[in-house]
Amino acid sequence: MSTFISITNPSLIGAAQPATLHAPEIEPGVGCDFDSYLLVPDNSLDERIGAAKARLRGDVVILGHHYQRDEVVKFADFRGDSLKLAYQASEAAGRYIVFCGVHFMAESADILRRAHQAVILPDLNAGCSMADMADIGQVETCWSELASLGDLQVVPITYMNSTAAIKSFTGEHGGAVCTSSNAANVMQWAFTHGEKVLFLPDEHLGRNTAFRMGIPLEQMIVWDPYQDLGGNSQDAFRAARVILWKGYCSVHQRFTPQHVSRVRREHPGIRVIAHPECRFEVTEAADQIGSTEGIIRAIAASPAGSQWAVGTEIHLVNRLAKEMPDRKIVSLDSSVCVCTTMFRITPQHLLWALDNLAAGNVVNRISVDERTRHYARVALDRMLALR
Ligand code: 13P
Ligand code: SF4
Repeated sequence: MSTFISITNPSLIGAAQPATLHAPEIEPGVGCDFDSYLLVPDNSLDERIGAAKARLRGDVVILGHHYQRDEVVKFADFRGDSLKLAYQASEAAGRYIVFCGVHFMAESADILRRAHQAVILPDLNAGCSMADMADIGQVETCWSELASLGDLQVVPITYMNSTAAIKSFTGEHGGAVCTSSNAANVMQWAFTHGEKVLFLPDEHLGRNTAFRMGIPLEQMIVWDPYQDLGGNSQDAFRAARVILWKGYCSVHQRFTPQHVSRVRREHPGIRVIAHPECRFEVTEAADQIGSTEGIIRAIAASPAGSQWAVGTEIHLVNRLAKEMPDRKIVSLDSSVCVCTTMFRITPQHLLWALDNLAAGNVVNRISVDERTRHYARVALDRMLALR
């Protein structure tokens, strides 16, 4: 007999989902493709994910980034920002690392994992538009154009939010990876190894970091991969200390200085904290900046009754507001700022991946090839050594 179930948790933003569907005669299970998991009733997801996790016992570790939905992140064994999760991936026990985050994070985990482990991304479509803004061919062209200008002694740094190929390029050319938590340490390290830094792929994180290290804006130039010499003159390169790749996060770039003024007007005395992926003008107008982990730490350390406007992805902001009801915590932008790719990981994806792993079926494995892995690991290890 078939029954009606309602789907309140569509897996894809914007994807048309019927309000009601006929439940299948057969319970979705191992061997079923992912689509059949869309029919698992919402009210049985928690129990089934818990049961699948229990079946896997010590064989699986689930990592969850702060931007994941509550229904997913509650199953994470470790929750964190990119840096914390990179450490967890390098130290994880268990055969399977299920990464509830985006593709570049799972790739980094695959580079850091031990030989017997496999990294799984529950939805392969969970990418990052910023990471896609630095293509390896474009970066190689940039590097050879820089080399044609003479001995500039440039050290590449790539933000964790980049593909494994870019991390590998960085490692091979004497550079390191950074995250939003340690970008200043890594930049400091880079200046002990060269005169200039090529910062990939986030223009804003690079500028915000360098400026707070005392480098004036006039000594930073932007490399536009679609223009000759990145759109700069040869003299500009000689004067520059930091070359910023023209990439950005579409979620964080939405915040503007007007949002900061408005929230201050509407909530007198409120403190504004912004992620360093926000534009320079926003971080200048804010009271402080912080990675996701830094934002959590700052708000948790503030006294009850404090008011915060937070410039970052909405799932984290809403979770903080729920977890700390004695503080007022609002988004810097009242219209929803969601990372649509982080949002792609649904409880259904997690259940599908776990059910398959429990049956010995490794699905959605992220696997970085050996040559890329070698130098990407060099770049990641340089960062981890700066702990
Ligand atoms: P964090 O390292 O601060 O968590 O940032 C990752 C990210 O993708 C922010 O957009
Ligand atoms: Fe990428 Fe921005 Fe999403 Fe972070 S918030 S994963 S940088 S698109």
